[in-house]
Amino acid sequence: MARIITVASGKGGVGKTVLAANIGITLSLYGKDVTILDADIAMANLELILGMEGMPITLQHVLSGEASVEEAIYTGPGGVKIVPAGISLEGLRKVNPDLLENVLLSILERTEILILDAPAGLEKSAIIALASANELLLVVNPEISSITDGLKTKMVAERLGTRLLGIVVNRVTSSGIDMAKKEIEAILEGRVIAVIPEDPEVRKSAAFGQPVVLRSPNSPAARAIKQLAAKIGGVKYVEEYAEVKESPIKKLLKIFRR
Ligand SMILES: Nc1ncnc2c1ncn2[C@@H]1O[C@H](COP(=O)(O)OP(=O)(O)O)[C@@H](O)[C@H]1O
Ligand SMILES: [Mg+2]
Repeated sequence: MARIITVASGKGGVGKTVLAANIGITLSLYGKDVTILDADIAMANLELILGMEGMPITLQHVLSGEASVEEAIYTGPGGVKIVPAGISLEGLRKVNPDLLENVLLSILERTEILILDAPAGLEKSAIIALASANELLLVVNPEISSITDGLKTKMVAERLGTRLLGIVVNRVTSSGIDMAKKEIEAILEGRVIAVIPEDPEVRKSAAFGQPVVLRSPNSPAARAIKQLAAKIGGVKYVEEYAEVKESPIKKLLKIFRR
């Protein structure tokens, strides 16, 4: 059965979109058939961080009955399939979120892993994203409000029958004020499967509309995200794979040494 992983949080702005995009791209580079759907319909920005804005048909059109889902699937970086939500305010008015479940079902028939970039909070569309998934990747920042809000999301997900795949602590610094991993695990009663550092390359990449795992593959955040993706996909993390941008001479030398 296909996997549906929802990348969710209590609070907004914790890094869900960055993680959904970069995990999806990495899994796709690892040879998996992955589709990322922007389920944050009201505050869509997956297409922006991937530099894929302005697509003619988006989830907005599908959820307002104007297009079929096949028409809203595009090939993104690394070969990952992307369903952008669309950023038009006018289009948003016509959307019927109740149609989302059927849309997800029809995507499932044609992909191995479906990643949902969920909205924050517990409004209707967030609940649909949680309920439709079978696995929850809970994203938190290392601060108490983010974690207590995350706890609510996790509890609702579990009540909906969605199991916790793991907790990701994002934007971790060495400032000494971050909550410790152990404390976070105790509050959330779950396992932290990745700690992603605060890294200026993440925002820089977003500003250029490029995913950090491709633009700065050796940056600390990109490495941590790639390790997380390998864990999720059940594949071995290969350090060498980090060198997407290696020089042609280095590449040649590697071939000579084989
Ligand atoms: N590890 C990180 N280091 C630095 N900035 C980050 C990191 N993760 C996310 N960000 C930045 O935080 C902001 C919110 O990220 P985003 O993925 O849009 O959050 P969400 O989808 O949860 O609302 C963006 O400006 C993003 O570039
Ligand atoms: Mg987002």
